Amino acid sequence: MAGRKSFGEELEAADDAPVPRETSPSLATLWERRLARRDVLRGFGKAALLASVSPAVLSLAACDDAPQARPDAIFGFEEVPGGIDETHHIAADHDADILIRWGDPVAKDMPAFDVNDQSASSQLARFGYNNDFIGFVPLPYGSGASDRGLLCIHHEYTNDNLMYPDYPADDPRTFYTREIVEISMAAHGGTIVEVARGEDGRWRTVTDSSYNRRITPLSTAMAISGPAAGHDRMKTNEDPSGTVVMGTFNNCAGGITPWGTWLMSEENINFYFVGENADEREAANHTRMGVPGSRSYPWGYFHKRFDLSREPHEPNRYGWVVEVDPLDPNSTPVKRTALGRFKHEGCENARTADGRLAIYMGDDQAFEYLYKFVTAAKVSGDRAANMSLLDEGTLYVARFEEDGSGTWMPLVHGENGLDETNGFSSQADVMIETRRAADILGATPLDRPEDVEPNEATGRVYVALTNSKEREQTDAVNPRARNLWGQIVELTPAGGDHGATAFAWTMLVKCGDPRFPAVGAEWNPDLGSDQWFACPDNMAVDPSGRLWVATDQGSGWNAASGAADGLYALATTGDKRGIARRIFRAPVGAEVCGPCFTPDGTTLFLAVQHPGADGTKDFKGFERSSTFADPATRWPDFEPGMPPRPSVLAITAKKGGPVGG
Ligand code: FEO
Ligand code: CA
Ligand code: CA
Repeated sequence: MAGRKSFGEELEAADDAPVPRETSPSLATLWERRLARRDVLRGFGKAALLASVSPAVLSLAACDDAPQARPDAIFGFEEVPGGIDETHHIAADHDADILIRWGDPVAKDMPAFDVNDQSASSQLARFGYNNDFIGFVPLPYGSGASDRGLLCIHHEYTNDNLMYPDYPADDPRTFYTREIVEISMAAHGGTIVEVARGEDGRWRTVTDSSYNRRITPLSTAMAISGPAAGHDRMKTNEDPSGTVVMGTFNNCAGGITPWGTWLMSEENINFYFVGENADEREAANHTRMGVPGSRSYPWGYFHKRFDLSREPHEPNRYGWVVEVDPLDPNSTPVKRTALGRFKHEGCENARTADGRLAIYMGDDQAFEYLYKFVTAAKVSGDRAANMSLLDEGTLYVARFEEDGSGTWMPLVHGENGLDETNGFSSQADVMIETRRAADILGATPLDRPEDVEPNEATGRVYVALTNSKEREQTDAVNPRARNLWGQIVELTPAGGDHGATAFAWTMLVKCGDPRFPAVGAEWNPDLGSDQWFACPDNMAVDPSGRLWVATDQGSGWNAASGAADGLYALATTGDKRGIARRIFRAPVGAEVCGPCFTPDGTTLFLAVQHPGADGTKDFKGFERSSTFADPATRWPDFEPGMPPRPSVLAITAKKGGPVGG
């Protein structure tokens, strides 16, 4: 802002004493420094008076405050202000182009999408719904190219009420036919699509690429490998071998391995099963996973394997990590049961000191756990040799101590009570009931672990704990009761080795509006009034080691924050540690997912999921819920009759160079 001192300049003017520098001062230290420089913190006088008012109301009130100018030395982009409206906003010195939308062709010779003429067979050749994780595999393989590659994209779930012109508002049960169910099934799963950057700098999909492929629960047969493969509890009438399963669904944050395979997580699998459980032995197991869901998709009325009364083992065949080779369009995806069965979120990885692979994973539900899988063998330079690497190794679950230490505890049959005395007859049982095994080991229940990102530049690991309205008892790593805002925890593996079983942990930020004591947020004291966020979900580390955080506030309480979801740069080192800056703001009702950088950092692919779907209030503050005929936004097409469409964007800097400056 020309002619006006930045907040940082004001601080400097108020205090000539130099601030001592450390590598990563704690937020408490940063606050002490700040308090030593200023007697009264801006905005806190009003907030203290209002501390007994509900935080959501306070957050709405805060939106009236004009954004302050702030120090911006760490991130070289023009920050996007907070707020909420029907479209997306990117930093002014960047471009955000729509790359692919729900319904766009991913096969050659397909006509343009017609929302009034949908079919399952057509959807199988088109981009699916609710894009989430994005992975980038450079082409040619091993080239490290940043102008051509394969995008591997999850389609987590469908918003059926926004997909179909005749979806009824009153009684959806009468609406579904086998064809409608199968369109929705075909819109789940994942997409592999080749993308290339043209001479004009724009990215485009290559619709006739032989790599392009849809992976769905309707059409893609998968193998099951690892400890649970072939176990009786994995067998069904359709698959008496317990080694073959049709498809994957509810795929959330995932990962790409060093050998260029795609790890598809299976998260909220409970919402796909109906009927009464016919197997007493499995009843507790299914209940622990929330099966059947309280409001399940009606797939089970047309595809009987999703009906528990007929196939009580079918849920045991979901909740895994699926490995897909995007470089071979004829390859059979494999469910790797050695990585455990839970509501998987995130499969990012890092090498151990001795060259094995550690894969970090969250289990996204209140009071669930953080996991790490470490392969038994080292990553090989021979790609083919890595194709069974994820079948042998150790799954660990995390225990956090109050003193900032922590332990990875192995989930191994026969050890530490994971034996017959607790109903575990084999490693297959331990993997099928990973959550119950982790209970027995005394793992630390967390505030909904979402994405987990190792930063190979620093050796540290970032864990997004998105929120937990259910929490009453607090502890050091889950420090707030009725936690609406979430926190990001930083782990440091012992000796800098991702294979170590000990770690240190500290809080990076406690999210939410920092001006209101009732929220209990903790950020860098130099965070501006418009820079806070809530509900961290997906994250990414860019090629220069900077952390980026996407948010998912969801409906209800969190939608009342008055701010759309977005993507934020978040400093993790030095005096700026704990400062966030918004580079992207989503349209109303959307969450932001899948941040993914090309190897050179000059392109950021980003997923906008469920536009128009979230929220009990629209951007003008009125109560509203979207319908096909009357959505809160028609992003990104803004054409009459076209509902909002989940889409992936390609973000680049106008002047070239790395996204984010
Ligand atoms: Fe699918 Fe945990 O978000
Ligand atoms: Ca997520
Ligand atoms: Ca989420």
